Amino acid sequence: MIVAVLGEKGGTGKTTLATNLAGMRATAGRQVLLVDADRQGSASYWAAKRRATTLPAVACLQKFGRALPRALRELAPRYDDVMVDVAAGDSQDLEEVLRVADRVLLPVQPAGLDVWTLGLLDERVAEAHGVNPTLVALVVLNRASSNPRDRDTHDAQAAMAACAHLRVAAVVIRERVAIKRATPGGLSVKEYTPRDAKAAAELAQLYQLAFAEERADHGRSTRNPRPARGYTGQRPRRAAPPQ
Ligand SMILES: Nc1ncnc2c1ncn2[C@@H]1O[C@H](COP(=O)(O)OP(=O)(O)OP(=O)(O)O)[C@@H](O)[C@H]1O
Ligand SMILES: [Mg+2]
Repeated sequence: MIVAVLGEKGGTGKTTLATNLAGMRATAGRQVLLVDADRQGSASYWAAKRRATTLPAVACLQKFGRALPRALRELAPRYDDVMVDVAAGDSQDLEEVLRVADRVLLPVQPAGLDVWTLGLLDERVAEAHGVNPTLVALVVLNRASSNPRDRDTHDAQAAMAACAHLRVAAVVIRERVAIKRATPGGLSVKEYTPRDAKAAAELAQLYQLAFAEERADHGRSTRNPRPARGYTGQRPRRAAPPQ
């Protein structure tokens, strides 16, 4: 299965989620290839750090431009799973990955301006469905506040309902120290000590969503919440951000 993590905005947690899922998949006994499609090389750094541990390794290579779709097509059959970490931005690489991936995760922080970037991704996914009709695109709220009084997460979920081609993951990943600290050590949060059971449980849920086989009825293992009252769902492609 080819699973990619991508998004228009930087710093949303793409590398964090891609490396966690790759590590968890490898620990589950799968042969995993992590494709680092970001010149920053953070995913490659993670894989190199992991090779210095006794944990199951994750093969990793950097690919961009024309070499990226070619590598995905050629290498995917040789691995159980391919995880792709795509650089931020609306790019040719992003479009190419959408054409070949089985599933894409779109991490976004629950804040108005971040959620706003999903309008363009909704369009890109719709375009990709023309050649890749089984592509599933899941928005993942990441770095959400763990404060129970926080309203931003709920508001963001409601706003995302306007994106017709995106689904909203039924798990919300909260801002957690263990998630921040596991990645530089080449670990998944499940392998990090001191153990953070809540963080591990959130990532385990995301893992289920990322790798679950689709049901024949395309049954919603994920949910798309109803829009908030007063939310029209009408949105031009690139207008001023919401007030
Ligand atoms: N759930 C989380 N809890 C705490 N810290 C997080 C969480 N998710 C990501 N971070 C932190 O946020 C920062 C950005 O994460 P990351 O590098 O994964 O984002 P990115 O989308 O890959 O960024 P870029 O667009 O630059 O590639 C990092 O310091 C990471 O440790
Ligand atoms: Mg990154």
